[in-house]
Amino acid sequence: MLSAKNVSKSFGGFQALSGCSIEIGAQSITGIIGPNGAGKSTLFNIVGGLIPPDAGAIALEGRNIVDLRPDEMAQAGLVRTFQISRELGQLTVLENMLLASSGMSGDSVWRNFCSPSRVRAEQQHAIAKGRALLEQVNLWQLANEPAKNLSGGQKKLLEISRALMLDPKIILLDEPTAGVSPLMTKVLGETIIKLRGQGLTFAIIEHDMDVIAELCNPIYVLAEGRTLTSGTFKDVASNRDVMHAYLGKVA
Ligand SMILES: Nc1ncnc2c1ncn2[C@@H]1O[C@H](COP(=O)(O)OP(=O)(O)OP(=O)(O)O)[C@@H](O)[C@H]1O
Ligand SMILES: [Mg+2]
Repeated sequence: MLSAKNVSKSFGGFQALSGCSIEIGAQSITGIIGPNGAGKSTLFNIVGGLIPPDAGAIALEGRNIVDLRPDEMAQAGLVRTFQISRELGQLTVLENMLLASSGMSGDSVWRNFCSPSRVRAEQQHAIAKGRALLEQVNLWQLANEPAKNLSGGQKKLLEISRALMLDPKIILLDEPTAGVSPLMTKVLGETIIKLRGQGLTFAIIEHDMDVIAELCNPIYVLAEGRTLTSGTFKDVASNRDVMHAYLGKVA
C-alpha cells in the first residue's frame, strides 16, 4: 500500500532521519515504535506531505507521492490525523466532521448563488455521511457538543472519524492513545480493528507497548533516524539491538 525508501531529513545540521525505510501492506495495522527523538513523527510528516524529505522515495500503491500536498495526498487516499486544535474545539463535533469534507460546491460563493439546490444536496449528503460515521463510533449523541468538551479518547475517535470523511485507503495515527483512559484505549483499539476489517490500512506510532502488541503486525523499530528492525511483536521485543536502543548500553 505504502512504501518509504531511504528517507533522509536534517533540520539545520541535525540528522533526524538517515535512510529510513518502511513498507506498509494493504489492510495491515503497521506499528512504528522507537525511543523519543527517533524520527517517527518526522517520518509521518514527510509521508503525509507536510514537510519535504531531503532524499528518498514515497510511493502509495506504486505511485510516487513525494511532491504531493497534504490535500492531494488525501485525494490519493492517504490521510494523517491531527489533534483537535483549540480553534476547532470551539466547533461542534458535527461541524468538525463537515469541515473535513472540503471541495464542496458550497465553498464557492458563485455556485452558492447559481445552483443552491446542488449546494444543499451536497451539504445533506455530507451531514448524512458525518452522521453515519459518528454513529459508528457512538459519538452521534454528542454531535452538537463543542469538540473541546469531549474526553481525550472521544477526541481521538473524532479525529479518526474526521479522517474517514475523506474516504481514505490508509490512515496515519501518531500516538493515538496518548492521554486516553484505559477504557477508551480499548474502544479505540476495537474501532481500528473494525475499520481494518472494512478494508482500511493503518500505520500507528505508539509508545504503549500493550497497544502495539494487541493491534500491530508488523512492527518497525526506529532509532536515531534509521529502521533498526521489523517483525512481529515477539520478534522485536526479543531483539538485543532494540533493547539497546531503548535502554542504552547498560541493557
Ligand atoms: N522542525 C524541526 N526542527 C528541528 N528539529 C526537529 C524538527 N522536527 C523534529 N526535530 C528533531 O528531530 C528529531 C526527531 O524528532 P521526531 O519528532 O520525529 O521524533 P519522534 O520519534 O516522533 O519522538 P517522540 O517519540 O518523542 O514523539 C528530534 O531530535 C527532534 O528534536
Ligand atoms: Mg513523535
